[in-house]
Amino acid sequence: MRSHKCGELNTAHLGETVDLCGWVHRRRDHGGVIFIDLRDRAGLIQIVFDPDTAETFAIGESVRSEYVLKVQGKVRNRPQGTVNLNMITGEVEVLIQHIEILNKSETPPFPIESDMEVNEDTRLRYRYIDLRRDEMQQKMRFRRDVSKSLRNFLDERDYFEVETPYLTKATPEGARDYLVPSRTHENAFFALPQSPQLYKQLLMIAGMDKYYQIVRCFRDEDLRADRQPEFTQLDIETSFMNEDGIMSVMEEMIKEVFEKNLEVSLPEKFPRITYHEAMRRFGSDRPDLRIPLELVDIADDMKSVDFKVFSTPAKDPNGRVVAMRLPQGNKLSRKEIDELTKFVGIYGAKGLAYIKVNDRDAGLEGLQSPIVKFAPADVWESVLTKTEAQTGDLIFFGADKTHIVNEAMGALRVKLGLEQGLVQGKWKPVWVVDFPMFDWDEKSQRWNAIHHPFTAPSCSAEALQANPGEALSRAYDLVLNGTEVGGGSIRIHKTEMQANVFKLLGISDEEANEKFGFLLEALKYGCPPHGGIAFGLDRLVMLMTNSTSIRDVIAFPKTQTAACPLMNSPSEVNDMQLRELGIKLRQTKKTVVA
Ligand code: AMO
Ligand code: AMP
Repeated sequence: MRSHKCGELNTAHLGETVDLCGWVHRRRDHGGVIFIDLRDRAGLIQIVFDPDTAETFAIGESVRSEYVLKVQGKVRNRPQGTVNLNMITGEVEVLIQHIEILNKSETPPFPIESDMEVNEDTRLRYRYIDLRRDEMQQKMRFRRDVSKSLRNFLDERDYFEVETPYLTKATPEGARDYLVPSRTHENAFFALPQSPQLYKQLLMIAGMDKYYQIVRCFRDEDLRADRQPEFTQLDIETSFMNEDGIMSVMEEMIKEVFEKNLEVSLPEKFPRITYHEAMRRFGSDRPDLRIPLELVDIADDMKSVDFKVFSTPAKDPNGRVVAMRLPQGNKLSRKEIDELTKFVGIYGAKGLAYIKVNDRDAGLEGLQSPIVKFAPADVWESVLTKTEAQTGDLIFFGADKTHIVNEAMGALRVKLGLEQGLVQGKWKPVWVVDFPMFDWDEKSQRWNAIHHPFTAPSCSAEALQANPGEALSRAYDLVLNGTEVGGGSIRIHKTEMQANVFKLLGISDEEANEKFGFLLEALKYGCPPHGGIAFGLDRLVMLMTNSTSIRDVIAFPKTQTAACPLMNSPSEVNDMQLRELGIKLRQTKKTVVA
């Protein structure tokens, strides 16, 4: 139907007669001459209708935004003064000889050509129109390019792409499963994979050596800007490689992707930080290292002060008291501090004490705060020294159970860093290593795996058994600018160790056999030492395109309530389908979606 794409014409095509197809992006009537910007995936071209050719001119007059046209015309120079060097095609235009309207269009619900803010629900409801916008076209193209360079990198290194099933059995990654009823097996359900974790381990047992897959994963969990119920992983597994080997290949891969797609050189070696150090200094296991603020432990100073808010958690083995210095922060107003106090409240903090350091050399006199009176001068002197406070600074305090202090002060650190313009550098990748194997769940009174239950401990089976809370795992996360973009580990490759870990997690032999019997059995047939990692492709592309949500880099994402307003899914099914599946609904009330 066409000889060229609209967006690729330039002065090399001058004098040629071209056939083009595309959408009416913008139409301008200039006293008897009609100009249309015709758009296709490649970009825009200006087409011109001459009033002397009455028939085409009349059609040109009748078209509206987003009509689909097929035109034939001659490429010519734009008249002097109308050249637009911001456009690839800005030096030329096409004088139309023939035009055919391939299809009309209703007036779109929002304009394609402007940067107008459009409500996200409307964008998702009409995603096929939203995706026509230049910004979205660029994001989709960028995502395609990133996937391609990831594939190239792995293909060149002999990684083997294998597809694994979507209809499968629950794989514990910490979220709820999406279930799919089976018609042919009464009362039985498939689970959609939260990740291909167990299949990729089986592929190592199968001698595949190095595997990868760009694969959809499904998790029914609370959604956030960087979480979708279905999302894409670059999933990788290797045999006979240790964690250093895996991390260094992955570093190379991420560096190549940044180099090729953004012309950005990431550091030669990514720094590594232990989980404990990350929690201590940043209150988070995904620290944003662009932000120079740090938490400083001051429990030792606060154990005997006459201020229960601080002394109680200071004495509690599960408590924490920290100070965080905001350089030049004493200019914050009362109102701003109140807002920040509200903010930490979201994370369970009961308050946000602070001290303004008006004059570092003036002792207590130089400090301004409602809490100065609760402790003697030497305590504050110690705090000021530890935080390296200077005149003009403000020090915030967090005191509570450790997890509340970490969450609240960790989040405050990021908020202040971003809002006070303290961000240093553009890209700060970091490996977080030496995660604990387990954390203790107070509610259910048992250990939970911090990664998944197939992660190998870095200690012996005996040490693990003796002190599960102290045991570290051979897991590693890649964090970029405060977002976890990848996570992986060396796996358990021996049946006994795997059975031990299941036992520690409170999974009975019976349950382990029922859920993971196939794995325990497979490990007995010559399982090689193996390990791997999975990257969140959506998150990586979100960061690289400077998007605020992964929804912006997914063609057809779900809303925050895990629904699709375009197709209106999830939706009800008819009685016949339910009967075939042997399912009876407890509630027949209509559920409203999105
Ligand atoms: P994990 O659960 O850490 O590990 O997932 C790997 C990466 O996937 C991304 N991710 C998500 N992205 C968008 N929406 C979500 N709901 C979501 N959940 C996770 C994150 C994360 O770092 N099988 C293991 C990997 C392994 O051990 O090899 C796994 O899935 O970027
Ligand atoms: P109060 O004596 O409760 O009025 O608290 C005095 C100061 O300590 C106020 O600035 C509170 O915001 C702050 N504060 C209260 N509880 C905490 C806490 N758990 N951590 C940090 N600061 C707190």
